[in-house]
Amino acid sequence: MDRRPEDLYLELLKKTLSFSLWPEPPTPVKDFHFRKKTSKRFFLSILSGILDKTRYQIVRRRDFSEEDRADGRVWPGYADTMVGMKRLDNLQHCIETVIRDGVDGDLIETGVWRGGACIFMRAVLAVHGVKDRKVFVADSFEGLPKPDAGKWPADRGDTQHERPFLAVSREDVEKNFKRYGLLDENVVFLKGWFKDTLPAAPIKKLSVLRLDGDMYGSTMDALANLYPKLSKGGYCIIDDYALETCREAVDDYRQQQGITEKMERIDWTGYYWKKQ
Ligand SMILES: C[S@@+](CC[C@H](N)C(=O)[O-])C[C@H]1O[C@@H](n2cnc3c(N)ncnc32)[C@H](O)[C@@H]1O
Repeated sequence: MDRRPEDLYLELLKKTLSFSLWPEPPTPVKDFHFRKKTSKRFFLSILSGILDKTRYQIVRRRDFSEEDRADGRVWPGYADTMVGMKRLDNLQHCIETVIRDGVDGDLIETGVWRGGACIFMRAVLAVHGVKDRKVFVADSFEGLPKPDAGKWPADRGDTQHERPFLAVSREDVEKNFKRYGLLDENVVFLKGWFKDTLPAAPIKKLSVLRLDGDMYGSTMDALANLYPKLSKGGYCIIDDYALETCREAVDDYRQQQGITEKMERIDWTGYYWKKQ
């Protein structure tokens, strides 16, 4: 074994953040019952409520294949990130390349959920002894917004704002950073809707811009406010290109701005390009 301790640490961290080391434990049904029909949902929430008082829970088995987890195809019950190993590998590649090539700028993820990908960003900077770059952690910390179909017709009918599973509080994300010993002054939280926080964000330059807000409006708000701040040689990473809403926003923005850099595929939904 001739791998450096730093590489072993980052490898272990990716597996821990994505919960890839363990089989998925059964998940309380109340965390997922929004997917059920109304009568089932009602029945399950009553039963869960009663059982909770007796310290028992109704749980559901969720057997993920290793491939599903590597591809980030599942909404995990326990992981700190849902992006999967391939997209974490890509994130590491982008951060290490900008450090190596001296590309100026901070790092940001727009849409962080439990914070796992941002925790990993902070860890990569720490491993390389980088002290002059910040990690911006941008989220409502209340889940996705209701669609604004007047402004962004592509988001009409989007129901993701109804999913409490996607709403993780800032306090919980801070706790997650602390659990890994990675919360410090170089981690900056931007709490609120992207349309409000990003235009005034205290960011001069970015070297890695990671977008994971799913919707057309969320993707467009992030691109419009942040892409101009991305340094040449920096990376723009799109987590949700498989979603029609996100794909349309990315394609529209690239076309409007005349961006011709080739998009490289990471996995079934992740794409990225290097700004030339
Ligand atoms: C799919 S999750 C992000 C997953 C995360 N990157 C990870 O590593 O697991 C989408 C996140 O985007 C946030 N979000 C989406 N649109 C937003 C908006 N317009 N303003 C603020 N937060 C938004 C949601 O609150 C949610 O936390």
